[in-house]
Amino acid sequence: MLIANVSPRTGGKTTDSGLLAHAVKETKTKKAPQGRKVKGFDADHSQQFWQWAQNGDFSFPVDKLATARFHKEYVLPEDVVGIVDCGHSENHPDITDSVLRVADLVILHMAPTAGDFERIVEPVDKTTLADMIKRSASLRADGQAPPAVVLLNRTVPNTKSSKNYRTEMEAEGWDVLSTTIPRSEAFAQAVGFPVIGASKGPFGALVLELESRGLLT
Ligand SMILES: Nc1ncnc2c1ncn2[C@@H]1O[C@H](COP(=O)(O)OP(=O)(O)OP(=O)(O)O)[C@@H](O)[C@H]1O
Ligand SMILES: [Mg+2]
Repeated sequence: MLIANVSPRTGGKTTDSGLLAHAVKETKTKKAPQGRKVKGFDADHSQQFWQWAQNGDFSFPVDKLATARFHKEYVLPEDVVGIVDCGHSENHPDITDSVLRVADLVILHMAPTAGDFERIVEPVDKTTLADMIKRSASLRADGQAPPAVVLLNRTVPNTKSSKNYRTEMEAEGWDVLSTTIPRSEAFAQAVGFPVIGASKGPFGALVLELESRGLLT
């Protein structure tokens, strides 16, 4: 299966993609007692996910594929979970559109802030991500839009922001995951270095939530 990690602008995607990929590989679950095979796809011109895989000595491949032909060119064996780090959908909608044609799950990454909320829900001059997901339906093999969830990241405990933006996003029709990724120095410094123990923290909890909800096969 293929998981598309999206946001209109900078939203924590690369950090979350790298840590989620490791957690998917390492987390031993009911359905995957040995963990899962994973493969990364860097669909951002920054190539930061790919670069992290080199510098961080990842134990799985990350392909460079920042192209509007993603849906034609990606290669993913049946038993492997593909994790795609998309670029800014507001600047490169053509690439995100292509990924959405073949994604089995979309994860929208956002901080619980007005800045992120506005760019997702009420962009002045762009197509909303919700509309991009909806319009993908007609170009998909099954004619249905892929399931999509919101992952709140850079959350701070005991503040109102997470609860407020969870409520706001749900009111907009989004499905917000229970798991959130807290703001932390360790996560802020993760890109560029080897990833150790990703399954032990919130990314392991994220894998369990996705599996228990039938969103991770
Ligand atoms: N959980 C976290 N806690 C604290 N800082 C974080 C966390 N996750 C990401 N960051 C920081 O937020 C910034 C943006 O993260 P990241 O580069 O992963 O976003 P992105 O969506 O990939 O951005 P872009 O689309 O521009 O490549 C980085 O400085 C990163 O270190
Ligand atoms: Mg990035």
